[in-house]
Amino acid sequence: MLTIIGLGLSDEKDITVRGLEAIKKADKVYLDRYTSQLANATITGLEKFYGKKVIPAGRNLVENEPEQTILKDAKSGDVAFLVVGDPMSATTHVDLRLRADKLKIPVRIISNTSILTAVGVVGLDLYKYGRTSTIPFGHQNINSPYEVLQQNLKSNLHTLFLLDLDPPNNRFMAFNEGIQYLLERRLPKKQLVIGCCQVGSEQQVLIAGEAEKLVKTSFNKFPQCLIVPAKMHFMEEEIVKRWLR
Ligand SMILES: C[S@@+](CC[C@H](N)C(=O)[O-])C[C@H]1O[C@@H](n2cnc3c(N)ncnc32)[C@H](O)[C@@H]1O
Repeated sequence: MLTIIGLGLSDEKDITVRGLEAIKKADKVYLDRYTSQLANATITGLEKFYGKKVIPAGRNLVENEPEQTILKDAKSGDVAFLVVGDPMSATTHVDLRLRADKLKIPVRIISNTSILTAVGVVGLDLYKYGRTSTIPFGHQNINSPYEVLQQNLKSNLHTLFLLDLDPPNNRFMAFNEGIQYLLERRLPKKQLVIGCCQVGSEQQVLIAGEAEKLVKTSFNKFPQCLIVPAKMHFMEEEIVKRWLR
């Protein structure tokens, strides 16, 4: 059996009771090490809390050759595959699930909080977001995230930008780099933007302000994401005032 388990966003204690029980029963525990990172946990910390060895799994292991590792182990025993956030949100491990189906391996999914819903803490109505986009590293010739923003604004919808990351190399895009990318593509300098760092953790930082000001502000707390609000309802405005600097 393959159990795909969401870890939530903050640290080892964000796991659900069902998730923890599944890990305790597993013969092997893999951790998706490339799609996101807990705000405040190390692999050693996870191992200590679970009382199990945790095998870090990079993109190649999960997406190119899972039949040699995760799925081979799941064919003969119980495997827990841990994913930061919710395992089927933003990161979709649908491919792994389909490959498991082909090998007739039963799959169970244990959900958890995702950055896609945790940004509700900012106070903008989640119903009023348009398409989410990711700003990748090496984005000089990539315009699609800006085009998504333009489309969303036309429909008066807020935009959540996820920001690229490379956890094994400790490389994370900061929200001010995301703002810089948008300003280079004609985002108005006075546009209100909201930077979000380590959402869902005790160290969470939310900061709102004009793009030209926040582009000069940085926090060494990762992961981070960026929101560009559309026209706000007065209650949204009221809450967002709390994050103004
Ligand atoms: C591919 S998404 C991860 C999706 C994950 N499965 C989930 O449900 O949250 C990774 C991106 O989400 C954003 N992100 C994830 N966790 C975050 C957090 N706690 N605070 C701020 N942004 C976060 C970052 O921009 C990061 O690069």
